[in-house]
Amino acid sequence: MTKFCYLIGNPVEHSVSPIMYNAAFKKLKLDFLYLSLKTEAKDLKNNILMLKGKDVQGANITIPFKVSVMRYLDKVEKLAKEIGAVNTILNDNGKLIGFNTDGPSALKALEKYENPKEKKIVILGAGGAARAITYFLLKKCPKELVIINRTFSKAKKLEKKLKNFYPNVTIKAFPLQPKYLKKELNNAEIIINCTSVGMFPNINETPIPKKILKKDSFLMDIIYNPLETRLLREAKEKGLRTINGVEMLVYQGAISFEIWTGKRAPINLMKKVVLKALTENEV
Ligand code: ATR
Repeated sequence: MTKFCYLIGNPVEHSVSPIMYNAAFKKLKLDFLYLSLKTEAKDLKNNILMLKGKDVQGANITIPFKVSVMRYLDKVEKLAKEIGAVNTILNDNGKLIGFNTDGPSALKALEKYENPKEKKIVILGAGGAARAITYFLLKKCPKELVIINRTFSKAKKLEKKLKNFYPNVTIKAFPLQPKYLKKELNNAEIIINCTSVGMFPNINETPIPKKILKKDSFLMDIIYNPLETRLLREAKEKGLRTINGVEMLVYQGAISFEIWTGKRAPINLMKKVVLKALTENEV
C-alpha cells in the first residue's frame, strides 16, 4: 500500500518539498508519495485528523499553522512543546506525534558558515520558524539576541518565553520599524530573516531597507523561493556575506524523511533536485 505524506499550509503551490521528497523516496525504492494539501484555517482540524488514516505516514506543516496545529495532536515531542511549534507530524498507528525540525536544520546550515557564540544576533520575525530558531540559537551562547517583528506583542511574548529558558542571555524585542532596524543592525554580527517577506510571489518585497544593511554582518534568509530574495540580493550588493534557505530546507527535509521512513535521507540528491527545480522555475 502506498504511504502518503502531506504538506499542509497555505500557500503551498510553489513549494519544492514534493519534488525533494518524491526524488528521495524513489531513490530508496520506497512506496511513498508526498503531496501538497493547501489548507484553509477552517479545514485545518479535518485535514489533520485525516492524517490518522492507515495509508498516511505523516506530514509537514508550514505557514501559517505551525503553532495552531498543536492542539489537534496526540503527543508533541519535548523540544517541539518547549518551542511551541510543530513542523513535522508522524502518524504512529493512528496517534499523531508532532516534532520540530526547524531549529536543528537552521543551526546546521548557519554553523557551516558562522559560529553564533558570543555574537550579537538579530532575528526578524516571531512566528513558528523564529521561535524554533531562536530557541536553538540560544543554546549556542550568543552575546545578545534581538527579536524584531511587525506585530510587536508577538516579539515581546517570544522574548519573555526565551528569557525563562535562558535567563543569562541579553534578549530584547522591537517592532519592525526603520528606526529600530537601523539601531539594532548597526552592530549585528548575524541577521536571520524568519519572516515570509520577499517569498514568491511577493519577490519585490524586503523586510530591511537596503540603506540600513551594514557590510560586516552575516545574513541568512530562511526563504528558498526565490533562491535569491531581494533582501539577499541587496545585502550582497552592500558586501554582506549571505546564505539562502536551501540548506535549511534540505536538512529539515532529511530529518522528516528519517522520522517517516526510519532510513537515512539521500541529502545530496535532495539538494540537487531542489536547486534544479528552483533554477529552472519548475515550481
Ligand atoms: P512560520 O511558521 O514560517 O514562521 P508564521 O508563524 O506565519 O510562519 O510567521 C510569519 C512571520 O512573518 C511572522 O513573524 C510575521 O509577522 P507577524 O507576527 O506580524 O504576522 C511575518 N510577516 C509575514 N508577512 C509580513 C509582512 N508583510 N511584513 C512583516 N512581517 C511579515
